[in-house]
Amino acid sequence: MAHGNGTSGGTAIPDHEFWDTFYTERDQIWSGNPNVVLVRETHGRTPGTALDLGCGEGADAVWLAGQGWRVTAVDVSRVALGRAAERAAAAGVADRVDWQWHDLSQSFPEGTFDLVSAQFLHQPGEILRERILRRAAGAVAPGGVLLIVGHAGFPAWEEHDREEARFPTPDEVLAALSLPEDGWEVQLSEEHERIQNGPDGQPATRRDNALKVRRRG
Ligand SMILES: C[S@@+](CC[C@H](N)C(=O)[O-])C[C@H]1O[C@@H](n2cnc3c(N)ncnc32)[C@H](O)[C@@H]1O
Repeated sequence: MAHGNGTSGGTAIPDHEFWDTFYTERDQIWSGNPNVVLVRETHGRTPGTALDLGCGEGADAVWLAGQGWRVTAVDVSRVALGRAAERAAAAGVADRVDWQWHDLSQSFPEGTFDLVSAQFLHQPGEILRERILRRAAGAVAPGGVLLIVGHAGFPAWEEHDREEARFPTPDEVLAALSLPEDGWEVQLSEEHERIQNGPDGQPATRRDNALKVRRRG
């Protein structure tokens, strides 16, 4: 769980409300740069169709579109999707991205894709995330890849108790996908560190993990 959405008076805050509030707090939350693992892992791949799950403010989707991909990008926050569409228009790639609103725990985009990317798709209840990621695997076209990047722990500037701070390892994400071994090939399973700036701009080391699996064609 990445954002601490809990319950209030026994009522869970719906994801769309949580994330709309989150995005409304600032004009821009994320850096605007595509995620480094996405850039690295798509390098040299022929552009085709891509699905970006939890696209946020659209940096990955816009970057992919600029590389020649036809992108379907999904988020539960209409605030984030609005910003993402503006970013795509400014970059001249609006016609290459289909922005779709979904609460992925309830609905999922139609079709299959050469690349399905889930970058930091964290939400309360990792079980739901696992279910979404299994659907994501089902949306990968033959010969296509599923790239899942997630946090391996909370940043140093946030305080959480040990149990809550447990994120799945790449092996656990792979196990949760329940992929038939003869139909899929693991191309990447790693934990890595990167520098992320905290709320006051202070740099800190953050651990993330990445899993890339290819559906045999
Ligand atoms: C940590 S942000 C990551 C955004 C973007 N992928 C990035 O790397 O900058 C998680 C994103 O997932 C979206 N999200 C969370 N739960 C979702 C759900 N149930 N359905 C669709 N999107 C969801 C949030 O609105 C948010 O934009």
